Amino acid sequence: MAKAIVNGSRSKGTINRNIYGHFAEHLGRCIYNGIYVGEDSAIPNVNGMRTDVVEALKKMGIPLLRWPGGCFADTYHWRDGIGPRESRKRIVNTNWGGVTEDNSFGTHEFLELCAQLGCEPYISGNVGSGTVQEFSDWVEYCNMGGQSPMSQERRQNGREEPWNVKYWGIGNEAWGCGGNMRPEFYGDLCRQYSTYLRNYDSGRPIYKIASGASEGDYNWTKVVMERAGRFIDAVSMHYYTRPRTKRWEDKGPATGFTREEYYSTLHNTLFMEELVENHSRIIKEYQGDRKVGLCVDEWGTWFDVEPGTNPGFLYQQNTMRDALVAAINLNIFNSHCDTVVMANIAQAVNVLQAVLLTEGDKLVLTPTYHVFEMYKGHQGSRQLESYVETSLIGGSECPVPDLHISASQGEDGAVLVTIANLSDTESADLDCAVTGAGRFSEISGRTLTGETGAYNDFDATDRVKPAPLAAELTGGGFKAKLPACSVTAFTLR
Ligand code: AHR
Repeated sequence: MAKAIVNGSRSKGTINRNIYGHFAEHLGRCIYNGIYVGEDSAIPNVNGMRTDVVEALKKMGIPLLRWPGGCFADTYHWRDGIGPRESRKRIVNTNWGGVTEDNSFGTHEFLELCAQLGCEPYISGNVGSGTVQEFSDWVEYCNMGGQSPMSQERRQNGREEPWNVKYWGIGNEAWGCGGNMRPEFYGDLCRQYSTYLRNYDSGRPIYKIASGASEGDYNWTKVVMERAGRFIDAVSMHYYTRPRTKRWEDKGPATGFTREEYYSTLHNTLFMEELVENHSRIIKEYQGDRKVGLCVDEWGTWFDVEPGTNPGFLYQQNTMRDALVAAINLNIFNSHCDTVVMANIAQAVNVLQAVLLTEGDKLVLTPTYHVFEMYKGHQGSRQLESYVETSLIGGSECPVPDLHISASQGEDGAVLVTIANLSDTESADLDCAVTGAGRFSEISGRTLTGETGAYNDFDATDRVKPAPLAAELTGGGFKAKLPACSVTAFTLR
């Protein structure tokens, strides 16, 4: 019997809704076909946005969407994507497959998408190959309500009111595809750019996010914070999970993987906690009397592309292994909600650890989708301290704890406990005490479970989906049996 405790009298604060954010890049079939099909498509759409995709993302509770990249952001010139579609520039997407980008999805379309989704837009500006003026004009174009050259141009393009976009990224992966910069150089550039990203008259100050480190590059965070910490609201960090493989070039298949690949993927996922703690510590050290947040604005699994697909499109299937990766990461972000202010899984549709896959007019909800949907009650709730007794499993090379937990309490008093059973073979009897959070008369459980490699496909869309799980209130908490390889959400009222 594994003992767990949820302690309602200790909390690190509110879980920022933006921890449940998503990312959509001009990459492969994420934007085009995945989200945007154009008004003339036979696929049902509203103003060009796929109705099925918009509805699914809304149901999942998407709070925020990051766009247009990724690496694409530092080659993107936003003026190419405004004005009449037929006269928009056709460019080459040099990062992702060298395909033609016709710019039919630009600023107006992205902000229309976010309006349909009811989510916050987060725009990554071009620092690598753009100019300060270009970026500054983009903010003015989106946010200026009164008279100005940019607001006039926006009106000419059919939009009267400003969108008041709050979240702006100052470049992306400036250490790599965003310009191969040194942190010293980027830190200075970041100060310069941030000076000209202005607040306009909306009364809603913009939130500036510096391009952050790759994984454990702590020196990057230190130098950027030293130089630019006073000028920004948050620093980002990117970490992708892959299994341990013999050659670095191989990331292993997304389906049909070995047991060793399963456990090494989960083992590597757990590294996120160390990254979050270490980057947060550095940020705190240099933030002075301001509060600078950590945005994990790209995370997720990165496997070999599906055989026969364009290697530049990063299309991969999504299994129960991905569901566990999502559950572990979200539990980590919840439990560090005092410093993690945003996290965006890569990417929303048809790319990397996608929550949705499309093929023509067909749609698949992946196991990762279901985890986000099951966890959505954590958004904006008060994090509660939680702990579960674990055993180490998975072998000596890549050990992982068998169970992984987080908990929160909503404004209505309901407590949500989310717990992953990482074991590929063993179910777990759980005895969870819930203290200091009130009294409960009802409990409901939902679990997502299957073989580690189970996935949904276009001809079998419901192979993996949440099902009710029996749980029993004990007076001081609850008891339940967690299936092997599962993600479970318990709600106590
Ligand atoms: O998500 C795919 C790519 O991964 C992004 O474009 C880039 O920022 C990261 O390296």
